[in-house]
Amino acid sequence: MTVRHFLSLMDCTQAELISLIKRGIELKSLHAQGVIYEPLKNRVLAMIFEKASTRTRVSFEAGMIQLGGQAIFLSPRDTQLGRGEPIEDSARVLSSMCDAVMIRTFDHADLETFAQYSRVPVINGLSDDLHPCQLLADMQTYLEHRGSIQGKTVAWVGDGNNMCNTFIQAAMQFDFQLRIACPEGYDPDPQFLAQAGDRVSVMRDPTEAVRGAHLINTDVWASMGQEDEAEARLKRFAPYQVTPALLDLADEQVLFMHCLPAHRGEEVSSELMEDPRSVVWDQAENRLHAQKALVEFLLVE
Ligand code: CP
Ligand code: NVA
Repeated sequence: MTVRHFLSLMDCTQAELISLIKRGIELKSLHAQGVIYEPLKNRVLAMIFEKASTRTRVSFEAGMIQLGGQAIFLSPRDTQLGRGEPIEDSARVLSSMCDAVMIRTFDHADLETFAQYSRVPVINGLSDDLHPCQLLADMQTYLEHRGSIQGKTVAWVGDGNNMCNTFIQAAMQFDFQLRIACPEGYDPDPQFLAQAGDRVSVMRDPTEAVRGAHLINTDVWASMGQEDEAEARLKRFAPYQVTPALLDLADEQVLFMHCLPAHRGEEVSSELMEDPRSVVWDQAENRLHAQKALVEFLLVE
């Protein structure tokens, strides 16, 4: 039997993604009712974090416990991965002991190598290219607040980073239009843009991107690993701050999303974080429910 991995949204069909999101909503409701549901008893998720994390770590760890299983946190600082043990070897060893492996890393190719040598599902917990688990939570959040996102217009304002690339894939898989406003030189990966065709457009003016939009997203201007560029980026991205006034140009029913952590006063104004149109706390909570649906999908026959 071939092993299913979740390295990008393209690893699932459109129908699978829709049912994963609906399942996330069901699991959220069961959890709220205090129902005990433990299909993953004795199952173990290994979690390799080469970058910092709050939401991803806690949501996977809490989610595995709630489903009756366990999660193991592994950092390169105290495993042999950090001392140069090859990815191929680590993949064979960890996948012989655990039922799934979640990896947060820099180079997306490392995830692919790990998956190639793993006999259990590998989940992308964020790479320099993509953050598909976040999009599961974001699409769940949109569905809960506004219904289907199909045919809607989504705006991305800021850096053409891993989150932006993942929104491009989401535009293809969930069938929406995406307008990306970013400074020249900070466009998303051309490979993802080419796959998406005319469903996705890149522009320089944030007001043009958000006009009439149903959902507006942003993310930090300097991602993990880009700390040295932070100061230069702060200047370059200043015209791209998302504020309540920018949202006023969008559709009346617009929602604001940010995967968090946020830098108030940089990519998002303080007021917008607390604006009624902001659903950032729901997105964060939904990481838990969406990923429970994901590990159930990957591990429960
Ligand atoms: N949004 C997100 O992935 O948050 P963490 O970096 O805290 O995991
Ligand atoms: N673009 C950000 C997302 C953090 C969840 C980063 O990669 O640091």
